[in-house]
Amino acid sequence: MKHKFLLLIFALLVTPVFSAKMGMPSDALKSFETECGSCHMAYPPGLLGQKNWQSIMSGLNKHFGTDASIDAKTHTEISQWLVRNAATRQKYSAIAPDNQITKSAWFIHEHDEVRADIWKRVGVKSPGNCQACHSDAATGGFSENNIRIPAK
Ligand code: HEC
Ligand code: HEC
Repeated sequence: MKHKFLLLIFALLVTPVFSAKMGMPSDALKSFETECGSCHMAYPPGLLGQKNWQSIMSGLNKHFGTDASIDAKTHTEISQWLVRNAATRQKYSAIAPDNQITKSAWFIHEHDEVRADIWKRVGVKSPGNCQACHSDAATGGFSENNIRIPAK
C-alpha cells in the first residue's frame, strides 16, 4: 500500500508538467483532424496561444504558400475549439513569430541541441514535421523517452 503510494508520487514528479496540456485534448475535433491534418500533422492546440491560432484561422486562403480554406461552418467550429484549447501558460502562449510553433521561444530553446544539418535530413524534412523524431507526436506526448532522430 505504502509502496504504491510512493510510486504514484514518483510518477507525478517525473511527468513533465506541460505534457498533458500539449497533448491532443480528449474532445479532439474530427473536422480539425481531417482539415488540419492532411498536409502536416494535426498540431495539438496547446502548442500555440490564442492570438496565433486566431491569426492562422483568419488567413487560411494564404496559408504558408498554400490555400487551406474551409467552409464557414467548419471554420467557426475549428476556430472556437482551437481558442478554447490554446496554450495558457505564459511560456507556450507567448506570441510565436509568423504563427509558427517552430519559431516560438520555447521550441527554439527545447531544440537548441539539434544541429542545423539534422533539420534538413530527408527523414526529417522540416522542424514542423514533429512526428519524424517524436514517435508520440500524434497524441501530443512529446516525451523525452520517445525521441528517435532519423539517421538520414
Ligand atoms: C493544403 C495544405 C495545408 C492544410 C490543409 C493546412 N496546412 Fe497548415 N501548413 C501547411 C504548410 C505547407 C505549412 C508550412 C510547413 C513547414 O514549413 O514546415 C503549414 C504550417 C502550419 C503551421 C506552422 C507549423 C510550424 O512550422 O510551426 C501551423 C500551426 C498550421 N500549419 C496550422 C494549420 C491549421 C490549424 C490547419 C487547418 C485549419 C492547417 N494548418 C491546414 C499546409 C497546410
Ligand atoms: C529533428 C528531430 C525533431 C523534430 C522534427 C522535432 N523535435 Fe522536439 N525534440 C527533439 C529533441 C532532440 C529534443 C530534446 C530532448 C531532450 O531535451 O533531451 C526535443 C524536445 C522537445 C520537447 C521537450 C521535451 C521534454 O520533455 O523536454 C518538446 C515539447 C518538443 N520537442 C516538441 C516538438 C514539436 C511540437 C515539434 C514539431 C513542431 C518537434 N518537437 C519537432 C527532436 C525533434
